[in-house]
Amino acid sequence: MRLRKGVILAGGMGARLAPLTQVTNKHLLPVYDRPMVTYPIEKMVQAGIEEILLVTGGEFAGDFLRLLGNGKSLGIKRLHYTYQEGHGGIAAALSLAEDFADSEPILVILGDNIFNASILPFVKKYNSQGTGAMILLKEVADAHRFGAATVEGDRIVKITEKPAKPESNLAVTGIYFYDSRVFEIIKGLSPSARNELEITDVNNIYISCDQMRWEKLTGWWSDAGTFESLYRATELVRKSRLSAKGEKGRRTEGEREEGA
Ligand code: DAU
Repeated sequence: MRLRKGVILAGGMGARLAPLTQVTNKHLLPVYDRPMVTYPIEKMVQAGIEEILLVTGGEFAGDFLRLLGNGKSLGIKRLHYTYQEGHGGIAAALSLAEDFADSEPILVILGDNIFNASILPFVKKYNSQGTGAMILLKEVADAHRFGAATVEGDRIVKITEKPAKPESNLAVTGIYFYDSRVFEIIKGLSPSARNELEITDVNNIYISCDQMRWEKLTGWWSDAGTFESLYRATELVRKSRLSAKGEKGRRTEGEREEGA
C-alpha cells in the first residue's frame, strides 16, 4: 500500500527548554523565522503526504489550531488533531494514531526534528520495501544524546537509547516509517526506567524480527529540544535561508542585467 499518511508528534513536556515551555508548547517556539512544528509539516507536504495527524498535549494544545487551522495555508490536504494525556513517551503518543492509520503504513516525524533534505526519495524507498519499518540515521558527534544504532553493512543490529558509551556515531533521527504492525507492537511494550513507552523498544522489536531497514539521511539534521540544539537548528535554517536568498538575489540581479 502506497504511503500517504503522516503523523507528527508534538506532545511531551519540553522540560529541557524550561522556562520557555512554561508559557508555550515547545513545538511552537521559533526556529529562525517559523514555528518549530511547521518544519516537519513542510517536509511531509513536499514528499506528497496527503493526510497528517498532529498529536499534541499540555495546556497550549489549542494554540496549534490557531497556528495551523485546517492546514491549507501549509498545503496540507487533510489535517487532523489528537490530544495526548500526560507525557507517556513517543510510543504512547504514536499509539493515538491507530484509528487514523486505519491499517495503512505511516511516516512519523518528531515535532522537534529540523533537517534540510527532501524525504521524498526515502518515501519512495519505503514504498518499494512494502512492509516492515525503516529508519533514517545520521552521523553525529554526540550520539549519547540519541538512540544510537549499531549497524553491520546494510543490516541494523540494535539501537541503544542514550548510551553512555555509544558503539557508533549513528544517531536515530526522529523520522520513522512503519507498517500497521506498529500498533500491536506498542500494545506489548512496558514502560522504561524513565516511565515512558520508548520508540527505541518498538524499533528493536522490528529489528529482532528482521523487519527493519535503514538509510542515511542526507544534508544537515538537528533536534531542537535543548537550548544548544535549538540554537544550532536556528543557525542551520538561517544559513539555508540566506544562501537561498543569495542565489535568488543573484538571479534577480542577472535577470535585471539581461533585461537592461
Ligand atoms: O530526535 C531523535 C531522538 O528522539 C531519537 O534519537 C531517540 O531515540 C528518541 O527517543 C528521541 O529522543 P528525545 O530524548 O529527543 O525525545 P523527546 O523526549 O525530546 O521527544 C521528542 C519528541 O517526541 C518531542 O519533541 C515530542 C514527542 N513526544 C515526546 C514525548 C515524551 C510526544 O509527542 N509525547 C511524549 O510523551
